[in-house]
Amino acid sequence: MSLPAKVKIVEVGPRDGLQNEKETIAAEIKIELVNRLTQAGFVNIEAASFVSPKWVPQMATSTDVMAGIVRKPGVVYSVLTPNMKGFDAALAAGADEMVIFGSASEAFSQKNINCSIAESIERFRDVAQATKQHGLRLRAAVSCSFGCPYQGDVPPDSVADVVQRLRDLGCDEIDIADTIGVATPNKVHAVMRRAAKEFPIDRLSGHFHDTYGQALANIYASLEAGISIFHSSVAGLGGCPYAKGATGNVATEDVLYLMQGMGIETGIDLNAVVDAGQFISQHLGRKAVSRAGNAIAAKRISVQ
Ligand code: HMG
Ligand code: MG
Repeated sequence: MSLPAKVKIVEVGPRDGLQNEKETIAAEIKIELVNRLTQAGFVNIEAASFVSPKWVPQMATSTDVMAGIVRKPGVVYSVLTPNMKGFDAALAAGADEMVIFGSASEAFSQKNINCSIAESIERFRDVAQATKQHGLRLRAAVSCSFGCPYQGDVPPDSVADVVQRLRDLGCDEIDIADTIGVATPNKVHAVMRRAAKEFPIDRLSGHFHDTYGQALANIYASLEAGISIFHSSVAGLGGCPYAKGATGNVATEDVLYLMQGMGIETGIDLNAVVDAGQFISQHLGRKAVSRAGNAIAAKRISVQ
C-alpha cells in the first residue's frame, strides 16, 4: 500500500488547543504563539474562534488576536464561525477560511451549538453562501465521527449523511473529527472510506484528539485509507468544552516526528514547533503533552 509523499498539517493549537483553558490567556501570548507557528512553516493555522463569549470565554480575544498576528503570504488563517454573527466578525478580522462545525451526533449538536443537526445546516447555509460570495475558503468539521460522549456509538452512515449535507453547502474541505479520542484504526478505515464515498478523499481531513492514546495509530490508518490532511495541536494542547474529559488534539511535534521518520513531506520545521510548544507550555505552567517535543527539548539540554 502506498502512502502519500506529502501531507498538509493544519495547526489547531491556538483555537482548539487554547479554547478550554480556564485562566484567561492574554491576546499577546496567543499572537506570539501564532507568529511562532507561522515562522515554523504551517500553510494553515486555525487561529481563533468567533463564537459566543458566554459559551467559550477564552476565545473572546479573537478580534485582537487576528489584528495582532504577523501574516505570511500564502498562509491560511482559519477561524470558527457557527453563524452569521461569527461570520461578520471573522470577515472584519480578515480571516482567510471560515470553519463551520457540525456533528454526526444529535446529542452533541445540541450541547455544542444549541441546535439540532438539521437546524445547524440551515444556519451554516447563510455562512457558506457569504463565505463564497467573498471568495474565501469554507471548511467544515464533523464532530463525534467515531463516538459521542452523550450518545455513545455513531454509525459511519451518520457521518456520511452530514458529510453529504456539508458538501452540498460548497465546503472546500471537511474534517472528520474524533472529538473524544475513542477511535481505533479499523473504525478509522471504515469511517474514512464511507465518508470518501460522499466527498473527495484528498479534501477530507483527520482531526484526532488523543484522549485514549490512539491518535498516531489513527493517523497511520488514515494515511493507509488515503487521507493526506491532518489536524494537530502544538504541545498537545486542548480539549473540547462540551465533551467532558476530552483531552487535546494529537501533538503536532509527534505527528511531525512520525511523518519525518516515514519520509513524508510536511514543509514544517519540527525544531521550531518544539520551541513554540515549550513557549506556550511554559506560559501555561505545565509540561508539554508531546512525547517527541519533550524528548527533543530534553536532548537539547543534555548536549548543552
Ligand atoms: P445560542 O445561545 O443558541 O445563540 O448559541 P443565540 O443566537 O440565541 O445567541 C445567544 C447570545 O450569544 C446572544 O447574546 C448573541 O448575540 C450571542 P445576548 O443577546 O445573550 O447578549 N452570540 C454570539 N456572540 C459572539 N459571536 C457569535 C455569537 N452568536 C451568538 N458568533 C452558538 C449558539 C452557536 C452561538 C453557541 O452555542 C456557541 O457559541 N457555541 C460555542 C461552541 C464552541 O465554540 N464549541 C467549541 C468549538 S467546536 C470543537 O471544538 C470541535 C472541533 O474541534 C472538532 C472536534 O474535535 O469535534 C471543531
Ligand atoms: Mg477538536
